[in-house]
Amino acid sequence: MYHHIKKLMYTVNVGTPDVRFGNMLLEQFGGANGELAAAMQYTIQGWNCVDDLARRDLLLDIGTEELSHLEIVGALIRMHLKPMKEKREAAEADPLVCIAGGGGVSLNNSMGNPWTADYLKITGELDVDLRSNIAAEGRAKIVYERLINHTDDAGTVDALQFLMTREITHMKAFAAALESMEKPPFSIGRLAATPKLVNEYFNASTGDGDEGDTDIKKAPWQTSFGLHPVESPMVGGQGLSNGSVDGVAGYEARGKQDDAQKATTATTVKTVDKKSIPHVENAAQTGRQATMAGETVTSSK
Ligand SMILES: [Fe+2]
Repeated sequence: MYHHIKKLMYTVNVGTPDVRFGNMLLEQFGGANGELAAAMQYTIQGWNCVDDLARRDLLLDIGTEELSHLEIVGALIRMHLKPMKEKREAAEADPLVCIAGGGGVSLNNSMGNPWTADYLKITGELDVDLRSNIAAEGRAKIVYERLINHTDDAGTVDALQFLMTREITHMKAFAAALESMEKPPFSIGRLAATPKLVNEYFNASTGDGDEGDTDIKKAPWQTSFGLHPVESPMVGGQGLSNGSVDGVAGYEARGKQDDAQKATTATTVKTVDKKSIPHVENAAQTGRQATMAGETVTSSK
């Protein structure tokens, strides 16, 4: 259940309203990297996270805080948009917000595009979701930074600095939650990647460009974590087989590969990760989460 407390998480003061800046702030209200998207992403991930109650608690803690951030951003926007209720010139900054929305906040981004659930990244795979969340916090941080660079209003900067800082706080918490799962960094899901192929860095951007750019032959992203560069099949390198896709074979055979290396190889399940739940007081609470009849939720300590 949710409970509303009649005060803001952080006090908001606006010295000089700026309707155009209020419009920019909508990006963090109804935009792709905004507070509603963050609140919904983490909260729904948390609701789905029924077999790891400690990290479920983390997702719901931060999801709930993001909803409080939405309230702060909303208050900030309303203060900045206030003049558009009376002044024609101010109203022209955003007719959608002024004429259709009465000068209040709406679930649109700074360009008037409606908020969409497509903004949310929810895979149901906890470590993958945590990586998405770390990236989401990074994007939100940089948007706040840019907003701060476009206002001189001290009260506004103060509130935005608070919101920006919390993004880094959340990034730390998500990173710690991911790290404490103790999964090898490139172990995603249960199926093992195809050996050899997994370590091939395709050199698919070749030649010298007009602006002096050259073909990088050796860089950390080509040679770390077991990677090594190979010439791309697109420029005559050995790469993957595409020999029989030439229209010579009958229709049924088109697209089939010859005897050379295949793009995919059947794998057996080689990694079954064990999710550890850190020893936290009440981490293994029972009876509160939705489970199927007869299903039990266990934790490993
Ligand atoms: Fe936030």
